[in-house]
Amino acid sequence: MKTQSCDATTELELGLCYDRAKAHLGMDEAMLLATRLLGMSFTEVITERGRLLSLADVEKLNSAVQRRLSGEPIAYITGKKMFRTLDLRVSPDVLIPRFETELLVDVVLEATPNGGRVLDLGTGSGAIAIALSKTKELQVVAVDNDERALQVCAENCRKHEANVELVCSNWFENVRGRFDTIVSNPPYVAADDPHLDEGDLRFEPHDALVGGPSGLEHLEEIIASASNFLNPDGWLVVEHGYDQQTSVKKLFVDRGFANIQQRRDYTDTPRVMWGQACGR
Ligand SMILES: C[S@@+](CC[C@H](N)C(=O)[O-])C[C@H]1O[C@@H](n2cnc3c(N)ncnc32)[C@H](O)[C@@H]1O
Repeated sequence: MKTQSCDATTELELGLCYDRAKAHLGMDEAMLLATRLLGMSFTEVITERGRLLSLADVEKLNSAVQRRLSGEPIAYITGKKMFRTLDLRVSPDVLIPRFETELLVDVVLEATPNGGRVLDLGTGSGAIAIALSKTKELQVVAVDNDERALQVCAENCRKHEANVELVCSNWFENVRGRFDTIVSNPPYVAADDPHLDEGDLRFEPHDALVGGPSGLEHLEEIIASASNFLNPDGWLVVEHGYDQQTSVKKLFVDRGFANIQQRRDYTDTPRVMWGQACGR
């Protein structure tokens, strides 16, 4: 009886639970789950190995390990993802914001004057729109055609006290007025891309990833209409796929954009393109 209760207690020890998670997932992911799900710091997890967890917390961690082993992204398991300095809520209704998308924010901040009006097309969790509105004095409008994504975005706006106007729209359909900068990270994966059956992509919303048969269809639509919604000399900034640089540049040129510029991401892959609407 005594031994049994001693074992049961040991089972609840933080150190043991963390070690079990680490054995399955490795240190980085085990630590991410432990800190995120148990609300502890890295230091607490390492130094307070003897701390007794509640049964509910142990079960939470064990179930998270099982979900991760079945391939579910860490961000959906914890419901959280860092984007720049923002701790964003995410759910399977939104794309998990990517590290490379932070580049888009940098470019928009450089291109847009203080007080400028910015349109974020395909906002998802609101990562770009909220990062912009929290970093610079800008009037930000965020669009998505998915109501569930807009709900997640609204939650993130409240959490971060971000002043962003949300619009449910099929790209520009319900958008009014003109902007100094339009930014978009639209779906740009080709429908038959085998990567869709791999890793995190299997769990993310299909409509947030797939840009039509060639992958370029949404980019085409956005680049074709953007000038009608830009102020003279306003900027269009887009993210594109690793192999789409030439095609996207042609779309910018064909639609009369000037001063076209490009930036590579942290893996040296062409990722962001921006151009200026010709002043009219
Ligand atoms: C690649 S995700 C980007 C999400 C977010 N900007 C980010 O970087 O995390 C593309 C987003 O575009 C939205 N979207 C897809 N088709 C759309 C359309 N026709 N009109 C408006 N938004 C659309 C999707 O719902 C999704 O949230």
